[in-house]
Amino acid sequence: MSDEIYSRIMYGSEHFSISSLPGMKERTIILDGFSKTYAMTGWRAGYGVMNKDLAAMVAKLMTNSNSCTNSFVQQACVEALQGSQSEVDKMVAEFQKRRDFIVDGLNQIKGFSCKKPLGAFYVFPNITKTGMESKKLADYLLSEAGVAALSGTAFGEYGQGYLRLSYANSIENIAKALERIDAAVKKL
Ligand SMILES: Cc1ncc(COP(=O)(O)O)c(C=O)c1O
Repeated sequence: MSDEIYSRIMYGSEHFSISSLPGMKERTIILDGFSKTYAMTGWRAGYGVMNKDLAAMVAKLMTNSNSCTNSFVQQACVEALQGSQSEVDKMVAEFQKRRDFIVDGLNQIKGFSCKKPLGAFYVFPNITKTGMESKKLADYLLSEAGVAALSGTAFGEYGQGYLRLSYANSIENIAKALERIDAAVKKL
């Protein structure tokens, strides 16, 4: 099962699907959707690409578990796929600016160290040098700075020492968040 939801939100490198390897097409279930590439998050439209026999079974399961995607969303999905893709390119270029901005900003905050991710719209800074555990720091930033960050441990034990922040927001708001994180961390 290959989750390829961010295949179009990549910076300077091409997406690679495991299904393109010899003999893998029949053995892969690709999961994708409209939420990210077409900014249709709330509209709940996703899809799987798999071999026909399996697709027939999955269709039965989906029809009886979460029923059907409403018709206006289906129309929007057709438009998204058939229309010009230039808006997607513009959005990804904007995300790249935001990524560079937030990574540079985080690296100036004492105790934070952040690498530049090559895709999606999240950063995963290392925060060990703040001296705080991830969950405690995430809670502190929420109450003290009004900034929502997720503890790296939400992704498993090896996420200790990291935070996850989304930069799906304006540069202006990201700047405010960075200022507030910086001020809150200085009080530690
Ligand atoms: C890695 C990954 N896969 C899949 C999804 C699913 O997105 P949605 O439920 O909006 O289609 C997300 C959303 O955050 C994601 O981060």
